[in-house]
Amino acid sequence: MSRDIYLPQMARIEKIIPENPQIKTFVLCFVDEDFNSSFSYEPGQFMMVSVPHCGEAPISFSSTPTRPGNIELSVRLAGKLTGAMHELRLGDLVGLRGPFGTPFTMDKLSDRNLLFVAGGIGLAPLRGVINYCLDKGGYGKITLLYGSRAPDDIAFSADIKLWQKKGIDCQLSVDTAAEGWNGHVGVVTTLLAGLEIENPKSSLLCGPPIMIKFCLPELSKMGFTDKEIITTMERHMKCGIGVCGHCYLDNKLVCVDGPVFDLAQLKAH
Ligand SMILES: Cc1cc2nc3c(=O)[nH]c(=O)nc-3n(C[C@H](O)[C@H](O)[C@H](O)COP(=O)(O)OP(=O)(O)OC[C@H]3O[C@@H](n4cnc5c(N)ncnc54)[C@H](O)[C@@H]3O)c2cc1C
Ligand code: FES
Repeated sequence: MSRDIYLPQMARIEKIIPENPQIKTFVLCFVDEDFNSSFSYEPGQFMMVSVPHCGEAPISFSSTPTRPGNIELSVRLAGKLTGAMHELRLGDLVGLRGPFGTPFTMDKLSDRNLLFVAGGIGLAPLRGVINYCLDKGGYGKITLLYGSRAPDDIAFSADIKLWQKKGIDCQLSVDTAAEGWNGHVGVVTTLLAGLEIENPKSSLLCGPPIMIKFCLPELSKMGFTDKEIITTMERHMKCGIGVCGHCYLDNKLVCVDGPVFDLAQLKAH
């Protein structure tokens, strides 16, 4: 195995978009211009992101490969590495290794009606997938259910407005309402009640484990087969390339076999 896979490429912060008080989107360009122009990735993949002396963590692409030239990573303040990233300014450098992981199989989703279910920062990777579908075309009706803890926690508002203009049915929910909130209140799974998605269909999920756990049986009841329920799984990671075993889940390594799995794959262990 080449040692390059362990060496980060430095990337410069071109823009920082505050999405909510805990999430920032970093627009990044690799310092090496040749590397930057030849870099490619697929929706659902991730990068191992590092800040010197502050560690490394997996972060999914929130951008789409259909818009080359830079990449976007949306980072929720969670601990050491993400805390250090939130302190960075325009022009600062981060280290990036990747792209890693098994992506969403976008070809197999063409012509299907797509139901996206996201909770919190889980909308980050799905944002990349939704924009990919819009750019490429050839997908069926798109519905997004997006849950946040409170109205102030809703992220990617600018994207959501744009998606609504482009005909995507975006349904938002908050766990706890605040003054001025006239929308749905309840965990995101409550939006599934009464929702009908016509065949052929697939659902794509990303969010906290508790959200995934409650969504899976509801989606099965709605008629999605195990292969039509596609979810991302989160595990703490060290190497990102199937060497250290840190991300072991049942008989799988999430960093190489995932992070994208369909329910049939998750049941096969
Ligand atoms: C494939 C993948 C894609 C991801 N994409 C994104 C993304 O797009 N955006 C984003 O914001 N996050 C994303 N994450 C989550 C992110 O990698 C984690 O939140 C990561 O831990 C942040 O690193 P940190 O150093 O800031 O936090 P840490 O210092 O790792 O702390 C984060 C939390 O994890 C706990 N923790 C630390 N180590 C362990 C351990 N070994 N076992 C259990 N708990 C532990 C800490 O107590 C703390 O509560 C992704 C994760 C995966 C696996
Ligand atoms: S993170 Fe090392 S094997 Fe997956």
